[in-house]
Amino acid sequence: MTFEYKIADISLHEAGRHQIRLAEHEMPGLMSLRAEYGAAQPLAGARIAGSLHMTVQTAVLIETLVALGAEVRWASCNIFSTQDEAAAAVVVGPAGSPEEPRGVPVFAWKNESLEDYWWTAEQILTWPGAEKDPALGPNMILDDGGDATMLLHQGVEFEAAGAVPEPGEDDPHEYTIVLARLRASLAADPQKFTRLAPGIKGVTEETTTGVMRLYQLAEAGQLLFPAINVNDSVTKSKFDNKYGIRHSLPDGIMRATDVLIGGKVAVVCGYGDVGKGAAEALRGQGARVVVTEIDPICALQAAMDGYQVAHLDSVIGQGDIFITTTGGKDIIMAADMLKMKDKAIVGNVGHFDNEIDMAGLAAIDGVRKVEIKPQVHEWVLDAGTAAARSIIVLSEGRLLNLGNATGHPSFVMSNSFANQTIGQIELFTKDGTGEYAKDVYVLPKILDEKVARLHLDALGVELTELSGEQAAYLGLDVQGPYKAAHYRY
Ligand code: NAI
Repeated sequence: MTFEYKIADISLHEAGRHQIRLAEHEMPGLMSLRAEYGAAQPLAGARIAGSLHMTVQTAVLIETLVALGAEVRWASCNIFSTQDEAAAAVVVGPAGSPEEPRGVPVFAWKNESLEDYWWTAEQILTWPGAEKDPALGPNMILDDGGDATMLLHQGVEFEAAGAVPEPGEDDPHEYTIVLARLRASLAADPQKFTRLAPGIKGVTEETTTGVMRLYQLAEAGQLLFPAINVNDSVTKSKFDNKYGIRHSLPDGIMRATDVLIGGKVAVVCGYGDVGKGAAEALRGQGARVVVTEIDPICALQAAMDGYQVAHLDSVIGQGDIFITTTGGKDIIMAADMLKMKDKAIVGNVGHFDNEIDMAGLAAIDGVRKVEIKPQVHEWVLDAGTAAARSIIVLSEGRLLNLGNATGHPSFVMSNSFANQTIGQIELFTKDGTGEYAKDVYVLPKILDEKVARLHLDALGVELTELSGEQAAYLGLDVQGPYKAAHYRY
């Protein structure tokens, strides 16, 4: 059976399949979930619209969801993060061929335009036949950053209003493109999202930024279905965000610039989970790391971990490498970039590209952008004057660890994606039981501990078992959970 898809090059499928095979070995969490649930098929009947970086690791997640019974359509959640060979292998599927693909419809390629990106986001919500029979549409969302969830919510809102508003003056450029996509959609089918929304049983959300958007919707009473906050499973944010970045941030900087990190001054904006991993990695390479923070607790943590904590302004002329990790906006502005050293490197690993003022940079008088190679740009400032110098911006201010490298490695993503899979099973199989209302939930701790357990053997970890007496003394069950909900790890 053939199906629609849009990827860069299906002939890359073999290269992708080899990488997926190696990744499976490094993803014991996902592979044990396949073994545990493969026969029971808990996701039979689930039709999952997935929006998450289309990498090799995500391919293993997608094929796990399929192994558990789900039908899936997929897009990336970032214009630069797709690994084209992984996308090709997922489309072809383990048993298909390029002529007769039997995998999953994927709509993703590296280096999408923003217009392409929002088209792919709509494609995962557009299932064949659903325009006539909503039961053929998606009934679950798996999101990273919340774009698929946002598109659906805005679609419903504008369809109810009968029109898509004009963008406001302060709206970012990208939002203009979202509105244009919704306008086209509404013109073609005025009830598309309204028909779709009641069928959605829930969403599982991968990252800090997407979770923040979900809590805002829930607080406003606007969340249309239950949500599981995968990010705040301990085995997600304390592993992927920290240890994942510790690996993929230096990987991205090195592949992009090949600059020696040792001896340089690296400024890390934000000392949350991602910032902690970033700072540790850069220090591990021999950089002198300076942290900026707005939260006194995180600032104190950074100081106790041995980092200088300073205002960005105090170190703007000293830094060789600047990395934003805040999930906030307007962290490094054009005026800051004007004060940087010649050839300073600027990059972001927070979810969205608004941490670095790219529009402001492009608007600087006389600035010139030189492409060194894809996703690595030199911005020449004060060209033609004695003060001429340039800065290097990675991935146009978007996630550099995915744009300039291949994102987090498999083993850490196995933890995150085991949480995603369990979250999907939880919301799909408990639909209609009343256990989950239109609110945001984290997975029960016992399941979080289960995800960790699935990864111990592969590392040769010997886990000590509580005796019955010890358990009784601590007021715990021998099988866990071992910590109260408020414990912070
Ligand atoms: P977090 O909330 O733990 O950390 C963010 C930190 O930034 C906080 O400590 C906050 O106080 C600080 N901050 C906020 N505004 C600031 C400002 N103006 N200046 C300095 N510090 C500021 O969040 P987490 O989990 O570290 O995630 C950060 C971002 O990274 C999110 O957008 C998240 O979605 C994204 N992320 C990216 C990944 C990647 O692969 N690149 C992986 C995981 C998360």
